[in-house]
Amino acid sequence: MEKKTVRTGIVGAGFSASFHFEAIKKVYGTNVEVKGVQALEGAQDYAQPRGIAVYDTLEKLLDDVDIVHCCTTASSHEPVAIAALERDKFVIVEKPLTGYFGDGSEDFNGEQCSKEVALESALASVTRMLEAEKKSRGRILYAENWVYAPSIQKEREILEKTGAQILWIHGEEAHSGSHARTYAYWKYSGGGVMISKGCHPLTAALYLKRVEGKARDGKPIRPKAVTARTHALTRMENFRDEGHIRSDYFDIDDFSVIHVVFDDGTIATIFASDIILGGIHNWLEVAANNHRVICNINPNTAMQAYNPLEANFKDIYVVEKTGTKQGWSTPSPDEDWFTGYPQEIEAFYRTVAYGDPVESGSSLAADCIATIYSAYVSAERSGTEVAVQAL
Ligand SMILES: NC(=O)c1ccc[n+]([C@@H]2O[C@H](COP(=O)([O-])OP(=O)(O)OC[C@H]3O[C@@H](n4cnc5c(N)ncnc54)[C@H](O)[C@@H]3O)[C@@H](O)[C@H]2O)c1
Repeated sequence: MEKKTVRTGIVGAGFSASFHFEAIKKVYGTNVEVKGVQALEGAQDYAQPRGIAVYDTLEKLLDDVDIVHCCTTASSHEPVAIAALERDKFVIVEKPLTGYFGDGSEDFNGEQCSKEVALESALASVTRMLEAEKKSRGRILYAENWVYAPSIQKEREILEKTGAQILWIHGEEAHSGSHARTYAYWKYSGGGVMISKGCHPLTAALYLKRVEGKARDGKPIRPKAVTARTHALTRMENFRDEGHIRSDYFDIDDFSVIHVVFDDGTIATIFASDIILGGIHNWLEVAANNHRVICNINPNTAMQAYNPLEANFKDIYVVEKTGTKQGWSTPSPDEDWFTGYPQEIEAFYRTVAYGDPVESGSSLAADCIATIYSAYVSAERSGTEVAVQAL
Protein backbone atom coordinates (compact mmCIF):
# COMPACT_ATOMS: atom_id res chain seq x y z
CA MET A 1 0.00 0.00 0.00
CA GLU A 2 1.26 3.44 -0.85
CA LYS A 3 1.94 5.62 2.18
CA LYS A 4 -0.31 8.64 2.55
CA THR A 5 1.08 12.04 3.48
CA VAL A 6 -0.31 13.88 6.50
CA ARG A 7 0.23 17.64 6.79
CA THR A 8 0.69 18.67 10.39
CA GLY A 9 1.12 21.70 12.63
CA ILE A 10 2.18 22.28 16.23
CA VAL A 11 0.40 24.67 18.59
CA GLY A 12 2.53 25.57 21.59
CA ALA A 13 6.32 25.62 21.69
CA GLY A 14 7.27 24.35 25.14
CA PHE A 15 8.12 21.04 26.79
CA SER A 16 5.37 18.87 25.32
CA ALA A 17 5.73 20.40 21.85
CA SER A 18 9.33 19.15 21.95
CA PHE A 19 8.54 15.54 22.73
CA HIS A 20 5.67 15.57 20.21
CA PHE A 21 8.16 16.64 17.53
CA GLU A 22 10.51 13.78 18.48
CA ALA A 23 7.58 11.35 18.16
CA ILE A 24 6.56 12.81 14.78
CA LYS A 25 10.09 12.07 13.51
CA LYS A 26 9.54 8.38 14.35
CA VAL A 27 6.20 8.00 12.48
CA TYR A 28 6.64 5.27 9.86
CA GLY A 29 3.11 4.39 8.67
CA THR A 30 2.56 7.70 6.90
CA ASN A 31 4.69 10.44 5.43
CA VAL A 32 4.52 13.54 7.59
CA GLU A 33 4.91 17.08 6.37
CA VAL A 34 5.36 19.47 9.30
CA LYS A 35 4.07 22.81 8.05
CA GLY A 36 4.95 24.89 11.11
CA VAL A 37 4.30 26.06 14.65
CA GLN A 38 2.11 28.70 16.25
CA ALA A 39 2.53 29.72 19.88
CA LEU A 40 2.01 32.65 22.19
CA GLU A 41 5.67 32.47 23.22
CA GLY A 42 8.76 30.67 22.01
CA ALA A 43 7.67 29.85 18.43
CA GLN A 44 10.81 31.28 16.79
CA ASP A 45 13.21 29.38 19.08
CA TYR A 46 11.24 26.21 18.52
CA ALA A 47 10.96 26.55 14.73
CA GLN A 48 14.53 27.55 13.89
CA PRO A 49 16.47 24.40 14.89
CA ARG A 50 13.69 22.20 13.49
CA GLY A 51 13.62 24.01 10.16
CA ILE A 52 9.89 24.70 10.21
CA ALA A 53 7.84 27.85 9.63
CA VAL A 54 6.31 30.12 12.25
CA TYR A 55 2.64 31.01 11.83
CA ASP A 56 1.33 34.14 13.47
CA THR A 57 -2.23 32.86 13.84
CA LEU A 58 -3.83 29.51 14.56
CA GLU A 59 -6.29 30.06 11.71
CA LYS A 60 -3.51 30.34 9.10
CA LEU A 61 -1.85 27.20 10.44
CA LEU A 62 -5.16 25.30 10.36
CA ASP A 63 -5.68 26.27 6.70
CA ASP A 64 -2.45 24.47 5.77
CA VAL A 65 -2.76 21.18 7.69
CA ASP A 66 -4.81 18.00 8.19
CA ILE A 67 -4.04 17.74 11.90
CA VAL A 68 -2.68 19.92 14.71
CA HIS A 69 -0.94 18.99 17.94
CA CYS A 70 -2.45 21.04 20.77
CA CYS A 71 0.55 21.33 23.10
CA THR A 72 -0.55 24.49 24.87
CA THR A 73 -1.31 25.25 28.49
CA ALA A 74 -4.42 23.31 29.54
CA SER A 75 -6.60 26.44 29.79
CA SER A 76 -6.45 26.90 26.00
CA HIS A 77 -7.13 23.30 24.92
CA GLU A 78 -10.84 23.92 24.37
CA PRO A 79 -10.57 26.95 22.03
CA VAL A 80 -7.69 25.40 20.05
CA ALA A 81 -9.50 22.07 19.65
CA ILE A 82 -12.82 23.65 18.70
CA ALA A 83 -11.11 25.93 16.13
CA ALA A 84 -9.54 22.83 14.54
CA LEU A 85 -12.75 20.78 14.58
CA GLU A 86 -14.75 23.65 13.07
CA ARG A 87 -12.40 23.48 10.10
CA ASP A 88 -12.84 19.69 9.89
CA LYS A 89 -9.27 19.07 11.10
CA PHE A 90 -8.07 16.39 13.47
CA VAL A 91 -6.63 17.61 16.75
CA ILE A 92 -4.28 15.81 19.10
CA VAL A 93 -5.06 17.28 22.53
CA GLU A 94 -2.47 16.97 25.28
CA LYS A 95 -3.72 15.99 28.72
CA PRO A 96 -5.85 17.11 30.46
CA LEU A 97 -8.53 17.42 27.78
CA THR A 98 -9.89 20.58 29.42
CA GLY A 99 -11.04 21.71 32.87
CA TYR A 100 -12.07 24.65 35.03
CA PHE A 101 -9.69 27.61 34.95
CA GLY A 102 -11.38 30.06 37.26
CA ASP A 103 -13.67 33.03 36.87
CA GLY A 104 -11.27 35.09 34.74
CA SER A 105 -10.01 37.21 37.65
CA GLU A 106 -6.26 37.79 37.78
CA ASP A 107 -6.03 36.76 41.45
CA PHE A 108 -8.31 33.69 41.15
CA ASN A 109 -7.63 31.20 43.91
CA GLY A 110 -8.42 27.61 42.98
CA GLU A 111 -7.98 26.32 46.50
CA GLN A 112 -10.80 28.51 47.73
CA CYS A 113 -13.16 28.17 44.75
CA SER A 114 -16.34 26.07 44.85
CA LYS A 115 -15.49 22.63 43.48
CA GLU A 116 -19.12 22.12 42.46
CA VAL A 117 -18.77 25.15 40.18
CA ALA A 118 -15.46 23.71 38.94
CA LEU A 119 -17.14 20.37 38.14
CA GLU A 120 -20.09 21.98 36.38
CA SER A 121 -17.85 24.28 34.30
CA ALA A 122 -15.41 21.50 33.38
CA LEU A 123 -18.28 19.27 32.24
CA ALA A 124 -19.73 22.15 30.20
CA SER A 125 -16.33 22.61 28.53
CA VAL A 126 -16.11 18.89 27.72
CA THR A 127 -19.66 18.98 26.33
CA ARG A 128 -18.79 21.88 24.00
CA MET A 129 -15.78 19.93 22.72
CA LEU A 130 -17.82 16.76 22.19
CA GLU A 131 -20.50 18.76 20.33
CA ALA A 132 -17.86 20.33 18.07
CA GLU A 133 -16.44 16.88 17.38
CA LYS A 134 -19.88 15.48 16.46
CA LYS A 135 -20.33 18.19 13.80
CA SER A 136 -16.80 17.80 12.42
CA ARG A 137 -15.13 15.47 9.97
CA GLY A 138 -12.12 15.74 12.28
CA ARG A 139 -11.68 13.88 15.56
CA ILE A 140 -10.26 14.57 19.00
CA LEU A 141 -7.24 12.31 19.55
CA TYR A 142 -6.51 12.39 23.25
CA ALA A 143 -2.78 12.35 23.94
CA GLU A 144 -2.77 10.08 26.98
CA ASN A 145 0.54 8.34 26.45
CA TRP A 146 -0.10 5.79 29.25
CA VAL A 147 -2.75 4.17 27.05
CA TYR A 148 -0.04 3.51 24.44
CA ALA A 149 2.74 2.55 26.86
CA PRO A 150 3.89 -0.97 25.90
CA SER A 151 3.23 -2.40 29.38
CA ILE A 152 -0.38 -1.11 29.39
CA GLN A 153 -0.91 -2.47 25.86
CA LYS A 154 0.45 -5.85 26.98
CA GLU A 155 -2.11 -5.87 29.78
CA ARG A 156 -4.81 -5.04 27.20
CA GLU A 157 -3.79 -8.18 25.30
CA ILE A 158 -3.93 -10.28 28.51
CA LEU A 159 -7.41 -8.96 29.34
CA GLU A 160 -8.74 -9.55 25.84
CA LYS A 161 -7.31 -13.07 25.52
CA THR A 162 -8.10 -14.36 29.03
CA GLY A 163 -11.45 -12.64 29.70
CA ALA A 164 -10.08 -11.55 33.06
CA GLN A 165 -12.04 -9.61 35.65
CA ILE A 166 -10.04 -6.76 37.18
CA LEU A 167 -10.85 -6.45 40.87
CA TRP A 168 -8.50 -3.63 41.85
CA ILE A 169 -6.15 -1.33 39.99
CA HIS A 170 -3.70 0.79 41.91
CA GLY A 171 -1.24 3.18 40.40
CA GLU A 172 0.71 6.35 40.78
CA GLU A 173 2.41 9.18 38.98
CA ALA A 174 4.78 11.19 41.10
CA HIS A 175 7.98 13.20 41.08
CA SER A 176 9.52 16.23 42.73
CA GLY A 177 7.60 18.93 40.88
CA SER A 178 6.70 20.04 37.36
CA HIS A 179 8.98 22.45 35.53
CA ALA A 180 6.31 24.70 33.89
CA ARG A 181 5.99 28.12 35.54
CA THR A 182 2.25 28.23 34.86
CA TYR A 183 1.77 24.84 36.57
CA ALA A 184 1.77 26.55 39.99
CA TYR A 185 -1.57 28.23 39.26
CA TRP A 186 -4.99 26.59 39.08
CA LYS A 187 -6.11 29.20 36.53
CA TYR A 188 -3.66 27.75 33.95
CA SER A 189 -3.57 24.07 34.94
CA GLY A 190 -7.21 23.55 35.95
CA GLY A 191 -6.16 22.13 39.31
CA GLY A 192 -3.11 20.66 40.95
CA VAL A 193 -1.38 17.33 40.95
CA MET A 194 -4.65 15.37 41.02
CA ILE A 195 -5.43 16.49 37.48
CA SER A 196 -1.97 17.12 36.06
CA LYS A 197 -0.36 13.84 37.13
CA GLY A 198 -3.30 11.82 38.44
CA CYS A 199 -4.90 11.92 34.99
CA HIS A 200 -2.21 9.53 33.64
CA PRO A 201 -2.68 6.45 35.86
CA LEU A 202 -6.39 7.25 36.19
CA THR A 203 -6.91 7.23 32.42
CA ALA A 204 -4.92 4.00 32.09
CA ALA A 205 -7.21 2.45 34.73
CA LEU A 206 -10.37 3.77 33.01
CA TYR A 207 -9.02 2.44 29.70
CA LEU A 208 -8.30 -1.06 31.02
CA LYS A 209 -11.75 -1.36 32.61
CA ARG A 210 -13.25 -0.34 29.23
CA VAL A 211 -11.14 -3.00 27.51
CA GLU A 212 -12.25 -5.61 30.06
CA GLY A 213 -15.93 -4.78 29.64
CA LYS A 214 -15.81 -4.73 25.85
CA ALA A 215 -13.85 -8.01 25.67
CA ARG A 216 -16.22 -9.95 27.94
CA ASP A 217 -19.64 -8.30 27.54
CA GLY A 218 -19.31 -6.01 24.52
CA LYS A 219 -19.71 -2.83 26.56
CA PRO A 220 -17.27 -0.69 28.51
CA ILE A 221 -17.18 -0.71 32.32
CA ARG A 222 -17.30 2.92 33.43
CA PRO A 223 -16.53 4.90 36.62
CA LYS A 224 -19.58 5.26 38.88
CA ALA A 225 -18.38 7.13 41.99
CA VAL A 226 -15.26 8.59 43.61
CA THR A 227 -13.85 9.33 47.03
CA ALA A 228 -10.80 11.59 47.18
CA ARG A 229 -8.43 13.59 49.35
CA THR A 230 -6.03 16.35 48.30
CA HIS A 231 -3.29 18.06 50.30
CA ALA A 232 -0.83 20.93 49.83
CA LEU A 233 2.14 19.57 51.77
CA THR A 234 4.79 21.98 50.42
CA ARG A 235 2.60 24.95 51.34
CA MET A 236 2.27 23.91 55.01
CA GLU A 237 3.90 26.46 57.30
CA ASN A 238 5.94 23.69 58.90
CA PHE A 239 7.25 22.24 55.59
CA ARG A 240 11.04 22.12 55.92
CA ASP A 241 12.30 23.06 52.47
CA GLU A 242 15.78 21.64 51.75
CA GLY A 243 15.64 22.57 48.07
CA HIS A 244 14.97 19.14 46.55
CA ILE A 245 11.22 19.51 46.02
CA ARG A 246 9.55 22.33 44.09
CA SER A 247 7.64 24.45 46.58
CA ASP A 248 6.41 27.65 44.93
CA TYR A 249 2.84 26.59 44.19
CA PHE A 250 0.22 29.29 44.53
CA ASP A 251 -3.13 27.54 44.97
CA ILE A 252 -2.79 23.89 43.93
CA ASP A 253 -2.65 20.49 45.59
CA ASP A 254 0.66 18.58 45.58
CA PHE A 255 -0.68 15.26 46.91
CA SER A 256 -3.86 13.41 45.98
CA VAL A 257 -5.53 10.05 46.25
CA ILE A 258 -8.64 9.08 44.27
CA HIS A 259 -10.60 5.94 44.99
CA VAL A 260 -12.84 5.01 42.04
CA VAL A 261 -15.78 2.61 42.18
CA PHE A 262 -16.73 1.27 38.73
CA ASP A 263 -20.25 0.38 37.65
CA ASP A 264 -19.46 -3.34 38.14
CA GLY A 265 -18.51 -2.67 41.79
CA THR A 266 -14.74 -3.12 41.27
CA ILE A 267 -12.25 -0.44 42.30
CA ALA A 268 -9.15 1.60 41.45
CA THR A 269 -6.95 3.66 43.77
CA ILE A 270 -4.83 6.34 42.15
CA PHE A 271 -2.07 8.34 43.83
CA ALA A 272 -0.45 11.47 42.42
CA SER A 273 2.10 13.71 44.04
CA ASP A 274 4.80 16.32 43.59
CA ILE A 275 6.73 15.34 46.70
CA ILE A 276 8.62 12.22 45.64
CA LEU A 277 12.42 12.21 45.30
CA GLY A 278 14.47 9.75 43.26
CA GLY A 279 13.09 10.35 39.78
CA ILE A 280 9.71 10.01 38.16
CA HIS A 281 7.63 7.21 39.67
CA ASN A 282 4.98 5.93 37.26
CA TRP A 283 3.47 2.52 37.79
CA LEU A 284 0.17 0.68 37.58
CA GLU A 285 -0.66 -2.61 39.23
CA VAL A 286 -3.62 -4.72 38.14
CA ALA A 287 -5.08 -7.31 40.51
CA ALA A 288 -7.37 -9.53 38.40
CA ASN A 289 -9.23 -12.76 39.13
CA ASN A 290 -6.82 -14.78 36.95
CA HIS A 291 -3.56 -12.80 36.86
CA ARG A 292 -1.67 -9.89 38.37
CA VAL A 293 0.60 -7.45 36.54
CA ILE A 294 2.81 -4.58 37.60
CA CYS A 295 3.41 -2.11 34.77
CA ASN A 296 6.62 -0.22 35.56
CA ILE A 297 6.53 2.70 33.18
CA ASN A 298 9.19 4.61 35.06
CA PRO A 299 11.55 3.61 36.56
CA ASN A 300 12.05 0.17 35.09
CA THR A 301 15.04 -2.12 35.25
CA ALA A 302 15.67 -2.38 31.51
CA MET A 303 19.11 -0.99 32.46
CA GLN A 304 20.88 -0.55 35.78
CA ALA A 305 23.99 1.58 36.10
CA TYR A 306 26.52 2.25 38.83
CA ASN A 307 28.42 5.54 38.54
CA PRO A 308 31.05 6.29 41.22
CA LEU A 309 31.46 9.97 40.28
CA GLU A 310 28.76 12.55 39.44
CA ALA A 311 31.05 14.25 36.87
CA ASN A 312 31.39 11.01 34.87
CA PHE A 313 27.79 11.21 33.70
CA LYS A 314 27.62 14.97 33.24
CA ASP A 315 26.68 14.65 29.55
CA ILE A 316 24.54 11.54 29.99
CA TYR A 317 20.76 11.72 30.16
CA VAL A 318 19.77 9.04 32.66
CA VAL A 319 16.07 9.24 33.42
CA GLU A 320 13.48 11.97 34.07
CA LYS A 321 13.76 14.04 37.26
CA THR A 322 16.52 12.32 39.21
CA GLY A 323 18.43 14.73 41.44
CA THR A 324 21.77 12.95 41.08
CA LYS A 325 23.49 10.56 38.66
CA GLN A 326 25.95 9.25 41.23
CA GLY A 327 25.63 5.74 42.65
CA TRP A 328 23.10 3.25 41.32
CA SER A 329 20.54 4.44 38.78
CA THR A 330 18.12 2.97 36.26
CA PRO A 331 18.78 4.69 32.92
CA SER A 332 15.87 4.38 30.55
CA PRO A 333 17.58 3.39 27.29
CA ASP A 334 14.57 4.56 25.24
CA GLU A 335 12.44 6.50 27.69
CA ASP A 336 9.98 7.71 25.06
CA TRP A 337 9.27 4.12 23.99
CA PHE A 338 8.52 2.99 27.57
CA THR A 339 6.21 5.96 28.09
CA GLY A 340 4.29 5.36 24.84
CA TYR A 341 4.87 8.69 23.06
CA PRO A 342 5.95 7.35 19.63
CA GLN A 343 3.32 4.58 19.65
CA GLU A 344 0.63 7.16 20.46
CA ILE A 345 1.61 9.54 17.65
CA GLU A 346 2.02 6.69 15.17
CA ALA A 347 -1.51 5.47 16.02
CA PHE A 348 -2.98 8.98 15.63
CA TYR A 349 -1.41 9.50 12.19
CA ARG A 350 -2.77 6.12 11.08
CA THR A 351 -6.22 7.26 12.19
CA VAL A 352 -5.94 10.44 10.11
CA ALA A 353 -4.51 8.69 7.04
CA TYR A 354 -6.26 5.32 7.02
CA GLY A 355 -9.14 5.66 9.50
CA ASP A 356 -7.67 3.26 12.08
CA PRO A 357 -9.79 3.04 15.28
CA VAL A 358 -8.78 5.35 18.16
CA GLU A 359 -7.76 3.77 21.47
CA SER A 360 -7.60 7.09 23.30
CA GLY A 361 -10.35 9.42 22.11
CA SER A 362 -12.74 12.03 23.47
CA SER A 363 -15.01 9.63 25.34
CA LEU A 364 -12.16 8.27 27.47
CA ALA A 365 -10.88 11.83 28.00
CA ALA A 366 -14.39 12.96 29.04
CA ASP A 367 -14.58 10.16 31.63
CA CYS A 368 -11.21 11.28 32.99
CA ILE A 369 -12.34 14.90 33.41
CA ALA A 370 -15.69 13.89 34.95
CA THR A 371 -13.90 11.57 37.40
CA ILE A 372 -11.25 14.11 38.43
CA TYR A 373 -13.56 17.07 39.00
CA SER A 374 -15.99 14.82 40.91
CA ALA A 375 -12.92 13.84 42.95
CA TYR A 376 -12.21 17.54 43.67
CA VAL A 377 -15.80 17.85 44.95
CA SER A 378 -15.23 14.80 47.16
CA ALA A 379 -11.94 16.22 48.48
CA GLU A 380 -13.68 19.51 49.31
CA ARG A 381 -16.10 17.41 51.40
CA SER A 382 -13.14 15.63 53.12
CA GLY A 383 -13.68 12.41 51.21
CA THR A 384 -17.43 11.92 50.90
CA GLU A 385 -18.42 9.73 47.94
CA VAL A 386 -19.51 11.64 44.82
CA ALA A 387 -21.22 10.16 41.75
CA VAL A 388 -19.41 10.45 38.40
CA GLN A 389 -21.64 11.79 35.65
CA ALA A 390 -21.55 10.13 32.20
CA LEU A 391 -21.29 12.59 29.29
N1 LIG B 1 1.83 13.76 28.34
C1 LIG B 1 2.79 14.22 29.10
O1 LIG B 1 3.61 13.47 29.62
C2 LIG B 1 2.92 15.70 29.34
C3 LIG B 1 4.08 16.23 29.91
C4 LIG B 1 4.17 17.61 30.10
C5 LIG B 1 3.10 18.43 29.74
N2 LIG B 1 1.97 17.88 29.20
C6 LIG B 1 0.81 18.73 28.85
O2 LIG B 1 1.16 19.54 27.73
C7 LIG B 1 0.50 20.81 27.83
C8 LIG B 1 1.55 21.91 27.72
O3 LIG B 1 2.48 21.76 28.78
P1 LIG B 1 4.02 22.13 28.59
O4 LIG B 1 4.75 21.49 29.70
O5 LIG B 1 4.42 21.87 27.19
O6 LIG B 1 3.93 23.73 28.86
P2 LIG B 1 4.99 24.82 28.48
O7 LIG B 1 4.72 25.96 29.39
O8 LIG B 1 6.37 24.25 28.40
O9 LIG B 1 4.57 25.27 26.97
C9 LIG B 1 3.31 25.80 26.65
C10 LIG B 1 3.36 26.47 25.29
O10 LIG B 1 2.03 26.79 24.87
C11 LIG B 1 2.00 28.15 24.41
N3 LIG B 1 0.62 28.63 24.56
C12 LIG B 1 -0.11 28.81 25.69
N4 LIG B 1 -1.34 29.21 25.38
C13 LIG B 1 -1.41 29.28 24.03
C14 LIG B 1 -2.44 29.63 23.11
N5 LIG B 1 -3.65 29.99 23.50
N6 LIG B 1 -2.15 29.60 21.78
C15 LIG B 1 -0.91 29.26 21.35
N7 LIG B 1 0.10 28.90 22.18
C16 LIG B 1 -0.16 28.93 23.50
C17 LIG B 1 3.04 28.85 25.25
O11 LIG B 1 3.43 30.06 24.64
C18 LIG B 1 4.15 27.79 25.26
O12 LIG B 1 4.89 27.86 24.06
C19 LIG B 1 -0.26 20.82 29.16
O13 LIG B 1 -1.61 20.51 28.92
C20 LIG B 1 0.41 19.71 29.95
O14 LIG B 1 -0.46 19.11 30.88
C21 LIG B 1 1.88 16.54 28.99
